[in-house]
Amino acid sequence: MRFVPRGTGHAIPKKIVTNDDLAKLMSTNDEWIKTRTGIERRHIVEKGTSTSDLGTAAALEAIAMAGWQPQEVDLILAATLSPDYYFPGLGVLIQDKLGCRAIPAIDIRGQCAGFVWSLATAQGFGLTGQYQKIVVVGAEIHSNVIDWNDHGRDIAVLFGDGAGALALELEPGVPELSKRGLIDFVMGSDGSGVEVLCMKRPGMAGQERFVTHEDIEKRLVHPQMDGKKVYINAVNRMCESVTTLMTRHGITAADIDLLIPHQANLRINETVREKLGFPENKVVNIITNYGNTTAATIPLCMHHAVRDGRLKPGSLVMTTAFGAGFSWGANLIRW
Ligand code: UT7
Repeated sequence: MRFVPRGTGHAIPKKIVTNDDLAKLMSTNDEWIKTRTGIERRHIVEKGTSTSDLGTAAALEAIAMAGWQPQEVDLILAATLSPDYYFPGLGVLIQDKLGCRAIPAIDIRGQCAGFVWSLATAQGFGLTGQYQKIVVVGAEIHSNVIDWNDHGRDIAVLFGDGAGALALELEPGVPELSKRGLIDFVMGSDGSGVEVLCMKRPGMAGQERFVTHEDIEKRLVHPQMDGKKVYINAVNRMCESVTTLMTRHGITAADIDLLIPHQANLRINETVREKLGFPENKVVNIITNYGNTTAATIPLCMHHAVRDGRLKPGSLVMTTAFGAGFSWGANLIRW
């Protein structure tokens, strides 16, 4: 059995923050942000919107495109690093807001690789044949944890809020290159990279309390990153993941219709594209308008590519992502 794409969805907050807007809050400028990252603007939520609201809206659109009702969905996989609550996870909130039956709703904590890991998980469930209709969601709100001043400027300029979703339906037949569906995946992690990109507090890491006033004063409640180390590892692991899948299936960049890379930095994606030998027109890049929306980047790219007609039934698609953990992976999909 294999899962076939049936619908995509997206949810993007209305409020736009441009690079010039950020330059009013911290020592940065449009030129620096654009040349280093390719980002020109990002969307952020207004007070009152939760990650589950974005995830639910994206899932609803994907379900509608598939021609289903929420009550028909058998399983939700929800990828996020910014859930509404520390616990329970994001998935159960989406299950309730969608009005689904009492189905399983599983959170996947793969950070920027969260959607890639979720599709790999979906593929595994496909082999059991237990669930017919599933929705995979990537949803994030970064704006609430960002340090909107000079202390956090290296991170603040990169991230945006948003959600994307993919509806998948089970079909008979094993996953293979010639048939529509999730074909194959690779995943990896290297926990020695934890401190290179993380948000340390709140958390249970050897402290007496989940979060203290001192943690807040020391700015440990905001993400921190060694950008250069992430950059180098991202290029290497994304290239390695795609190459592994191409080698396994005896294909080259010429056989793949669309490469959908994670959207962390346009320069990362350009380097990956060149190293792998993809022409520009085969790579989806939406970072200019959204920034990095972590687990939401890949389903958002899918939604845009479907809407633009670049992604059609039968297209051979490769995704790849790298993020905090470190965590990485790739999926090969016949759309
Ligand atoms: O989703 C996965 C997670 N994230 C990533 O994949 C991000 C990977 N890393 C990157 O994209 C890049 O490393 C960055 C965009 C974060 C930074 O680009 P860079 O070319 O590696 O810049 P840098 O870290 O070498 O910083 C250069 C300079 C520094 O000043 P000095 O030390 O040279 O005087 C920074 O302090 O730019 C300064 N800087 C800024 N200047 C203006 C850092 N942030 C900013 C800023 N505006 N926002």
